[in-house]
Amino acid sequence: MLTLPGLIDIHVHLRTPGQEYKEDFYTGTQAALAGGFTTVLDMPNNKIPITTQVLLEQKIELARQNIVCDVGFYFGSLGDNLEEFEKVTNRVRHPRPDRGSINNIGIDSRFRGNDTGVFGLKLYLNPTTGNFLINEEKLIKIYQAWSSNQPILLHCEGETMPMALKVIKATGKKTHICHVSSKEELSAIIEAKNAGLPVTCGVTPHHLFLTEVDAKRLGSYGLMKPYLKTQADVDFLWNNLDSIDLIESDHAPHTKEEKDSDNPPFGVPGLETTLPLLLTASSEGKLKVDDIKRLCHNNPAKIFNIPTDENTYIEVDETKPYTLNPKPLFTKCGWSPFQGKKVKGKVKTVYLRGEKVFDQGQILTKPGSGKII
Ligand code: DOR
Ligand code: ZN
Repeated sequence: MLTLPGLIDIHVHLRTPGQEYKEDFYTGTQAALAGGFTTVLDMPNNKIPITTQVLLEQKIELARQNIVCDVGFYFGSLGDNLEEFEKVTNRVRHPRPDRGSINNIGIDSRFRGNDTGVFGLKLYLNPTTGNFLINEEKLIKIYQAWSSNQPILLHCEGETMPMALKVIKATGKKTHICHVSSKEELSAIIEAKNAGLPVTCGVTPHHLFLTEVDAKRLGSYGLMKPYLKTQADVDFLWNNLDSIDLIESDHAPHTKEEKDSDNPPFGVPGLETTLPLLLTASSEGKLKVDDIKRLCHNNPAKIFNIPTDENTYIEVDETKPYTLNPKPLFTKCGWSPFQGKKVKGKVKTVYLRGEKVFDQGQILTKPGSGKII
C-alpha cells in the first residue's frame, strides 16, 4: 500500500450552476475523492460565465452545500468586467496564512479567514466550450487590470501562444498555461522559462496517454480542446517531464447523448482515471512516484498557493492490476475515454483533515462536508 498526500487538481469543470445534467458539485467532488484528489479548482466557463461578483458568490454558496472535497474557483473575463476584479479582491487568495506576510499596502494576510475562494483568473484565447474568446487588445487590458499575485491561467494553444507570451513579457504577470499538448507549445514554454518569464504549465492525462490514433478509434469520445496529438508530440511531453510543472485533468464531463449528437462538445472526464494512469506509467518506469507527488501535489500547492494539511492523505494499492470500468463510479457523465485499459493503482482510502471520507469505493461523508478553500 502506498500513502500519498491528498492530490490537487487545479483544472476541473464541475458544470454548476447551469449544466447540472452533466455534473454537479456533489458528483464531481465524489469523483475527485474516488480518484485520490482532495482539492480541486473549478473553471468559470459555466453556462453563464462567472465574470461578476454576484455570479461568483452564488456559485460559491451552491458549492458550499454540496461538496465532499475541498474546492476553490477561478474568476473569468471576456474583457468587459474589469471593474468586477476590484469587487472580488477579498475573495482572491492571499499569501498562505501559515507563512504570513505583510503585503505592500500594509495588510497582514496572516489574519485573513481561510474561506477565500478564488485562486486565479482564467482566460480563453482559442474557441472551446462556452465560447469565451478574447483578442490581444482585450488580453492586455485584462492583464493590466488583474492586480492579484495569483496566476492568470490561459487556454492558449497553437497559434495563440506567441500572442500570450508577448503579453506575459510586456506585463510580467504570473501565468499558468493550461493543457500543453504539442512539442511546439512545450518548446515555446521552455524557451520562455529560460528567458525568465513567470510562466508555468500543465499537461493533461489524455495528452500523455492518448494520441490522434486513439482519437480515430474513440470518435467524439476522444474529442477535446486541445485535440489529441501525434505520438512524436506525446513522446516530447514525456521526455521533457522536468519542464512540466503539474498535471491537470481538465475533467470536462459531457453526456453520452451530447457526445453522440451531430455537434459533439469538446471534453472528456478525468478525475477518476488520472492517478491509476500515472501509477501504471510509474510501474512501467516512465516516471517516479516522487514525480507524481511533484506534479499532482507539491507544485499545484506552491503555484496556486493552496492550503495543505498533513492529515489529508490517500492510501493506494499500487500493485494489483485491474481494468478501468466503462463507467467510472461517480462522474455523472458515466463514461471514460480510458475504459477497458489495464492499469495498476486503485485508491483504497482517503483522509481529509484526519477524517476517513472514502473507503473501498464508498463515500463516507455528506454533501457539504468539504471546504471552500
Ligand atoms: O475539451 C475541453 N473541454 N477543453 C476546454 O478547454 C473546455 C472543456 C469544457 O469545458 O468542456
Ligand atoms: Zn478546461
